[in-house]
Amino acid sequence: MAETRKLEGKVALVTGGAQGLGEAILKEFALEGAKTIIFDIDANESNRVKEELRKTNNDTEVVIIDVCNSGAVNIAISKLCKKYKKIDILVNAVGGFYNFDKITDVTDEEWHKVINTNLNSAFYCTRAVMKYMEKSKSGRIINISSGAGIAPNPHAPSYVPYGAAKAGLLGMTKLLARDAGEFGITVNAIAPGTALTPRVKKVRDASSISNIAKMNPLKNIIEPVDCAKAAVFLSSDDARYITGITMMVNAGNLIF
Ligand SMILES: NC(=O)c1ccc[n+]([C@@H]2O[C@H](COP(=O)([O-])OP(=O)(O)OC[C@H]3O[C@@H](n4cnc5c(N)ncnc54)[C@H](O)[C@@H]3O)[C@@H](O)[C@H]2O)c1
Repeated sequence: MAETRKLEGKVALVTGGAQGLGEAILKEFALEGAKTIIFDIDANESNRVKEELRKTNNDTEVVIIDVCNSGAVNIAISKLCKKYKKIDILVNAVGGFYNFDKITDVTDEEWHKVINTNLNSAFYCTRAVMKYMEKSKSGRIINISSGAGIAPNPHAPSYVPYGAAKAGLLGMTKLLARDAGEFGITVNAIAPGTALTPRVKKVRDASSISNIAKMNPLKNIIEPVDCAKAAVFLSSDDARYITGITMMVNAGNLIF
C-alpha cells in the first residue's frame, strides 16, 4: 500500500528557504506534499531552489524579502493568507553569524545585527502568522535555534551574540508554546549541531569541522537533511501533542 505523504495539503512557509538548512527543510516539506513558500533575501538562490523543485514536479512560491523588516513581513504574510486562506506551518530558519570576535571587540552594530537576524526576524514572522493560525485554530511553528543557544560548543569556538540570540529563541519557543496551545498551535525548536551549509563552510575552518566530527559521540557532523526530517516530524500529525520542546539534532555534540 502506498504510504501517505505526511504534509499533504499543508501550506508551509520557510524563512531562509533558499539555502542551507532552510533549503533542506523546504525540499523535504515539498516531498511530503506541502505547498511551500520561501521567504529569503537572496533572489538567485531562491530561484535556483524553485527551478530544482520544478524539475521534480514540485512548485514553490518565492517571496524576496528581508525578514528583519517587520512592516514588509506583515504585508507579505497578509497577502499569502489572502491567497492560500491559511498558513499551516512556519519555520523560522533565517539566522547565522560570520564572526568569532571576543565580546570586547563586538560593536553595537554587530550585536544588533546578530540579534535582529536570529531573534527579531523570528518574532516578526511568528507574530504575523499567529494572527491567522489563531483564527484557524491550528498551526505549527518551528524555530531553528542552535546548540549555541544551550551551551558553548565543547569542541570548537562559539560566538556570544549568536548564542544569546539563539537562547532567546528557545525562551520564546517555550513561553509561546503555552500561550498558543489553546488555539491548537504547537511551537517547538530545533537546535542543530554543526552542518556544512554554504555559510558554515565560510565561517568555520576545516580543523574546527574535523574536530567537531571526531569528538561528537556519533563520530560525524549532521547533514541538513537530518534537521529537515526533524522538522517534518514536528509538523506532522505524529507530533500533535508535542509542544515547547527543543529537539537537539547534533550527533551527540551536546547531551543533557
Ligand atoms: N549550519 C549549521 O551548522 C547550523 C547550526 C546550528 C544552527 N543553525 C541555524 O540554522 C539556520 C540556517 O543556517 P545555515 O547555516 O543554513 O545558513 P545559510 O546562511 O546557509 O542560509 C540562511 C538563508 O537565510 C537567508 N537570509 C539571511 N538573512 C536574511 C534576511 N534578513 N531576510 C531573509 N533571508 C535571509 C540567506 O539568504 C540564506 O538563504 C540559521 O538560523 C542558523 O543559525 C545552523
